[in-house]
Amino acid sequence: MRNRPVPQSRKFDFFKAIACIALFAAGAIAARAQTADQAWLREPSHLVLFGKVIALGNSPIEQSAVKELSRSISHPASIKDASMLRAWHENWLTVIGTAEEVRKAYPHAPVPSGLAPGEYWIWSNGSNEHSLYVVAGGDERGALYGVFALLRYPLSGMTSPPEKLPSLHAQPLRSRPAMPIRWTDEWDNANGTVERGYGGRSIFFEGGKVRDDLSAVGEYARLLASVGINGCNVNNVNGAAPFLTPEMLQGLKRIADAMRPWGVRLAISVDIASPQKIGGLKTFDPLDPAVQAWWAAKVDEIYAQIPDFAGFTVKADSEGQAGPASYGRSPADAANLLAHALAPHGGVVLYRAFVYNNHLDYNDLKADRARAAYDIFHPLDGKFAANVIVQIKYGPIDFQAREPVSPLFAGLEKTNSAMELQITQEYTGQQRHLVYLAPMWKQILDFDLRADNRSTPVKEIIEGKSFHRPLGGMIGVSCVGRDGWLGAPLAMANLYAFGRLAWDPYNLPEQIAEEWTRQTINNDPHVVYVVAKMLMQSWPAYVDYTGPLGTQTLTDITGSHYGPNIEASERNGWGQWHRDDAQGIGMDRSVATGTGFAGQYPPEVAKMYESPATTPDDLLLFFHHVPYTYKLHSGETVIQYFYDSHYQGADEAAQLVAEWKTVRAMVDPKLYNDVLGRLEYQAGHAIVWRDAIVQYFLKESGIPDAKGRAGHYPGRMEAEDARLSGYKVIEVTPWEDASGGKAVTCDAGSAPKGCSAEWTYAGKAGHFDIAVQYFDQQGGVAHFSLDVNGKAIATWDADAKLPSRRPNGDNSTRFTTSEVELKPGDVLRVDGTPNASDPAALDYIEIEPAASAR
Ligand code: GCU
Repeated sequence: MRNRPVPQSRKFDFFKAIACIALFAAGAIAARAQTADQAWLREPSHLVLFGKVIALGNSPIEQSAVKELSRSISHPASIKDASMLRAWHENWLTVIGTAEEVRKAYPHAPVPSGLAPGEYWIWSNGSNEHSLYVVAGGDERGALYGVFALLRYPLSGMTSPPEKLPSLHAQPLRSRPAMPIRWTDEWDNANGTVERGYGGRSIFFEGGKVRDDLSAVGEYARLLASVGINGCNVNNVNGAAPFLTPEMLQGLKRIADAMRPWGVRLAISVDIASPQKIGGLKTFDPLDPAVQAWWAAKVDEIYAQIPDFAGFTVKADSEGQAGPASYGRSPADAANLLAHALAPHGGVVLYRAFVYNNHLDYNDLKADRARAAYDIFHPLDGKFAANVIVQIKYGPIDFQAREPVSPLFAGLEKTNSAMELQITQEYTGQQRHLVYLAPMWKQILDFDLRADNRSTPVKEIIEGKSFHRPLGGMIGVSCVGRDGWLGAPLAMANLYAFGRLAWDPYNLPEQIAEEWTRQTINNDPHVVYVVAKMLMQSWPAYVDYTGPLGTQTLTDITGSHYGPNIEASERNGWGQWHRDDAQGIGMDRSVATGTGFAGQYPPEVAKMYESPATTPDDLLLFFHHVPYTYKLHSGETVIQYFYDSHYQGADEAAQLVAEWKTVRAMVDPKLYNDVLGRLEYQAGHAIVWRDAIVQYFLKESGIPDAKGRAGHYPGRMEAEDARLSGYKVIEVTPWEDASGGKAVTCDAGSAPKGCSAEWTYAGKAGHFDIAVQYFDQQGGVAHFSLDVNGKAIATWDADAKLPSRRPNGDNSTRFTTSEVELKPGDVLRVDGTPNASDPAALDYIEIEPAASAR
């Protein structure tokens, strides 16, 4: 590097400079395409100048770090003064390496001792003339994470003006991951489908084998590394046996190769019955020496191909998966079997605590699925090998929109534990609804279980701090696919937030939301404010319009897990019961009179949940069965809260649409329209949820809504009351999913040209919005049109991909057309043309004053 003095007047602080340039760049990019296909690492994500960038070692991870930083040095045109630019380039050197490498090459650099694996330290020598910038890592991954942090920092620090950012010389950047296990789990099947995946087909597998083109896998690993994720389990926890065949292992080696440059280690789910299913043994008994030898050989075979293989995830004795119980053995026996095989190679076992009996007796008031994990795993505390980590879902049931924290986190003091959560929105709107989950995760992480009557928040337990455990972490079930990763642009905030919380559970959801927005959408202050606000509002809104007060998500739990279906969770063996009847609702989980689940918590928390009086309102019905007239701490009755929260939740969903509309001029039009369509759909589906739950409990309790809304829908005209031509009236199942329990369908056989429903308008003259509520069933694309007095107003296709071939709350959809002029006597008509097995089913139309008339 040539040493050319920088003129005094042009001296600058490197870090302030990159911040200013980043600001400039983000503004410039705002005008260009921002489809979010590349998620938060858009290229170029932001423009920074780091002079020459070199790696001190030659590991692929350090090379990735150099590439990542170098790809940001590409827009000198944005800097007006060419001589300044040249001078900067010629006088800067940025080096990337492990602490050890840096110390060796630059003995004067004050590299701190004791950098942990994954930790980074970023420093500058403070000189403008021979500027040296150092990104040092506790290991190579640390150096890579340092580069991503450096790229992110100017954008994430925008709460203070860029010129106020501290200099790297005076204040080096240093951060370490809070926990060693930071993995995503993918539930991909070998045939290319993804269980609970809403982002398209697998990026890993197709047709029973690993895909030839793994470029998306490398890109995914890059995304994961950018937020510090260091492991990825690529296959479904169900049906995992075929993944251990020699052919599959060769393919898995290629996946590991694609992820390795980004420091992401491969893990796989295994079927504990593999020795029998694919190994030809007569048994898979964990204590059988032949079984042990089989696993030891299989693990050796894996490591021969994948030397940095991370380990196994196991779902056993759960939902039809084989397990050690077949031989009277315990989960510890099964986990240790695998752990002993993996230990010599440095691998770990993530043994899932999601073990329960799905054939419980509904009539047994003491039966309780929530108890299962603690009942099974707590007695085994201390019996697991050192490289076993028990992977615990955040709540005792199953990824519900609201659950209490699993008591098992406090029940394993001598065992490593990790928290499992879902990034994929199985029970929280399946990516069709905007639900930013970080606030929920944060509540769980912060929850203080008070084990041994001292402060033991969940985050400190899984960090390994509370019980001095060497291993622990967070696992996010991600289920990405080929369709924009998660299938919806704003859903990507969940993947990002998962990584940022696993890195540091003290990070704040709101700040993460802002940080993500700046990187993904743009840096305009209004956009950042609005999108972060929308993200933060979305989870509480979803809870409000689905299952409040701890009832869990009142969805179709034996089917789609998507639309409303209140009774689906009752009277079956799955144990997601809420036990509603004409008088009241909720599960009694107290020790005194209920299932005893509350007693699984450490004493202080157990005491709080034991009585309805001390249980927080938002979990009341999870722990107690109370009458509908029971008064909450807020003073409202349970039933009135049901009405109010559902109306409020649906209003909040509508609000998201209005808020997004305010950023129209500032975001890429393609992204704008894509998100707008999704939010409008969500607002319509929130009304489906609201009406289903409200009308169900109105009928069940017989107690009217004090505010007169439930059961009264001014402006609504039912399809079953219309003058029908071709359409037939049907009962919808479950009844609460259709207004009044009924709809009309058009049978293509008897009405091949389609059907129509006609109403005469009898209200006041004026301008109105007209909503048509129809069922967008699977199996065809029905066509609809709306006209007034024979004049076409709107036409549309029922072409969304929604669950169910029957008309119900999964596919009930709202189409709204605005500012229609109406006068008394006008005739409104909806024509429905069925297609294949979609019978153009119709629920109602609703006429509301237009925005201009409100
Ligand atoms: C949920 C989900 C299943 C999944 C299971 C698990 O129940 O619906 O698809 O297999 O969780 O976590 O194992």
